[in-house]
Amino acid sequence: MLMRSPNLVKMVGANFLCVVLLVEIIVVMSGHSYGANGLSMNYYLTSCPFAEQIVRNTVFRALQADPTLAAGLVRMHFHDCFVEGCDGSVLIDSTNDNTAEKDSLANLSLRGYEVIDAAKEELERMCPGVVSCADIVAMAARDSVFLAGGPLYGIQKGRKDGRRSKVEDTFNLPPPTLNASQLITKFRQHGFSAEEMVALSGAHTLGVARCRSFKNRLSGVDPTLDKDFAKTLSETCSSGDDVELAFDTTRNSFDNLYFNALQRKAGVLTSDQTLYADTRTRGIVNGFALNQATFFRRFQWAMVKMGTLDVKQGSRGEVRRNCHKFN
Ligand code: HEM
Repeated sequence: MLMRSPNLVKMVGANFLCVVLLVEIIVVMSGHSYGANGLSMNYYLTSCPFAEQIVRNTVFRALQADPTLAAGLVRMHFHDCFVEGCDGSVLIDSTNDNTAEKDSLANLSLRGYEVIDAAKEELERMCPGVVSCADIVAMAARDSVFLAGGPLYGIQKGRKDGRRSKVEDTFNLPPPTLNASQLITKFRQHGFSAEEMVALSGAHTLGVARCRSFKNRLSGVDPTLDKDFAKTLSETCSSGDDVELAFDTTRNSFDNLYFNALQRKAGVLTSDQTLYADTRTRGIVNGFALNQATFFRRFQWAMVKMGTLDVKQGSRGEVRRNCHKFN
């Protein structure tokens, strides 16, 4: 972890130059080696040396115009990686004979596609057919976390884009009604420990949920839900299924206030509050609520790991020319 900025506006100017330099240092120090999965830190060093900068500048401009996009881009990377691996399958448009992942209920509120498109367009101008859409999604998520005030971490590149995107595969995404046991099982299937699952859930320090994602909590008495916060949930829902509620009080800042909200029984989703309600994960929540630096370290580790889920190499994938379509 390198530095943290309280809000995006303060990142403008000199700080952003620091971001650029620091990421370059990480890349150079990490050497040229390829991992077992065929990825490497400086995969584009010779084939598209400005790939990182192009993505970073595009994300920077987009977040300056709309800071809420950081949440969308981080979530997009998660939804890409948990379905068919990190292969850009979430970006594919449906056609007459294929309903793609994008059109599943779980993905309808994904945001930020236009940022990926803008980066891809410029990359295709600079180095046609070289930088995969899957890598752009991974870099955009990484840059969003940092620009929102979170930790800076280096990621390997070289993911190929997948040739499959089917709505039925999105059953892999966890629904918001899961309890801690179900979340632990779901994330274990992808190789994550309970602590890594809680750290990744900390991405809910950014962004919002819609009433349709938490209205299940409004029927019956729920001892894990604060009474005043229950009113906030039901007031939100009284204006309709699509009305948004922020996960914590700082929806555009990457911090540990999400975990403090869980301690106050003011978690938005069932899958959020269960992390505090369940004794197996409560200690982890308390640790992250107490110490933001620990949360940042665990989060960056887990994000790097998530970014390597079932990555495709060689003939198992391609570099799409247009992120919305297979070549
Ligand atoms: C632990 C299981 C998880 C569940 C059940 C879950 C579920 C959800 C749901 C239901 C929403 C709100 C969607 C809506 O109402 O429109 C949401 C938003 C979000 N999720 Fe998750 N999520 C989980 C884990 C993650 C992970 C691992 C990440 C990233 C690493 C992530 C990042 C986000 C972000 C940033 C948002 C806000 C999006 C926005 O404001 O546009 N989530 N999640």
